[in-house]
Amino acid sequence: MRKPVILITGANGEIGHGLIEYFSTSETHDIVALDLKPLDDSLTGPNLRSMQGDILDDHVMQRIVSEFEIHVIYHLAAMLSTRAEYTPDVAHDVNVNGTLNLLKLATEQARWHGTPVKFLFPSSIAVYGLPDVATKADAGKVRERDWNVPTTMYGCNKLYCEQLGRYYSDHFRQLAADRSPSGVDFRGLRFPGLISAKTMPAGGTSDFAPEMLHAAAQGQPYACFVEQSARIPFMAMPDAIKALVDLAHADVKQLSRRVYNVSSFSLSAGEVREMVLKAFPQAEITFEPDRQRNNIVDSWPADVDDSAATKDWGWKPDYDVRRAFEEYLAPTIGEKYRQG
Ligand SMILES: NC(=O)c1ccc[n+]([C@@H]2O[C@H](COP(=O)([O-])OP(=O)(O)OC[C@H]3O[C@@H](n4cnc5c(N)ncnc54)[C@H](O)[C@@H]3O)[C@@H](O)[C@H]2O)c1
Repeated sequence: MRKPVILITGANGEIGHGLIEYFSTSETHDIVALDLKPLDDSLTGPNLRSMQGDILDDHVMQRIVSEFEIHVIYHLAAMLSTRAEYTPDVAHDVNVNGTLNLLKLATEQARWHGTPVKFLFPSSIAVYGLPDVATKADAGKVRERDWNVPTTMYGCNKLYCEQLGRYYSDHFRQLAADRSPSGVDFRGLRFPGLISAKTMPAGGTSDFAPEMLHAAAQGQPYACFVEQSARIPFMAMPDAIKALVDLAHADVKQLSRRVYNVSSFSLSAGEVREMVLKAFPQAEITFEPDRQRNNIVDSWPADVDDSAATKDWGWKPDYDVRRAFEEYLAPTIGEKYRQG
């Protein structure tokens, strides 16, 4: 008998850390954690099985399904926005073909055990593309269906994978004589920039906020790669985990869409600096904008309209900006570096 499990891809990343920590205290399910890299030693648990491998490797996928029966997939593995611009072909492979592999695996698994496979997909505000800062200011809180014209490879990949998820869930093999649902129950979240107190980001374009904070906590100077006025929405990592888990648990009948915006607070880089200085008054933060990375941030919305998530499955962040910095980020990061 194969064991019923939750599969997490990209499990050693920032969200993976948060999700595995959450599951170690709150879920009775067994977890299979897949990543290119070995799982950090800090991530342990009696229900956790770690596997090292590439989502593009068919042998790895087959090894997983030979041992486990998968009921839920948190597909986190991806190449993030800045890295993706340096190697767009590789990014397309990992972000699109990797997701397609997981959707195929979910379809096969649903057929085997005869129940839908929930497929949780962290998308991003990178799916939006605003042409200039004046339009961005006018647009305000952007709705899911607006400005779906991304300027980055990463944004294009995320937008297309959302569509693939919708296709697999709602229109799979629609012309086949033996047409039957794929069994994939795709649920996506368009995350803003995430800030974790426990892990350092790498390869994203919203990284300036967490980088500022982690540098300040370590007493290191930081030169921010976007202008003070560059503004996007952010979210504290515990709220990102809550959003993923709440959406996974939501009654499918309540869901009016496959992909939802979620947001907590919107800050400019200058305002992030002020919040960091409140927590770490000695911090040395300067601005040395990189024109191209700044343009990417300028093409993302200043904030998003997440009212559909609130209406359909009760989304509400626990951390507003004050609580995020004063009760979660500053104390937890301070403690992390004091402990070394
Ligand atoms: N962190 C954010 O601010 C943010 C915002 C919006 C969306 N997201 C999305 O959330 C997901 C997780 O983000 P994160 O911040 O944890 O990223 P991360 O870069 O910290 O983690 C990604 C993980 O995926 C792994 N990985 C990459 N390619 C792989 C492959 N081919 N096979 C197996 N594993 C592979 C990496 O080793 C890494 O551990 C991603 O899909 C990302 O696009 C993140």
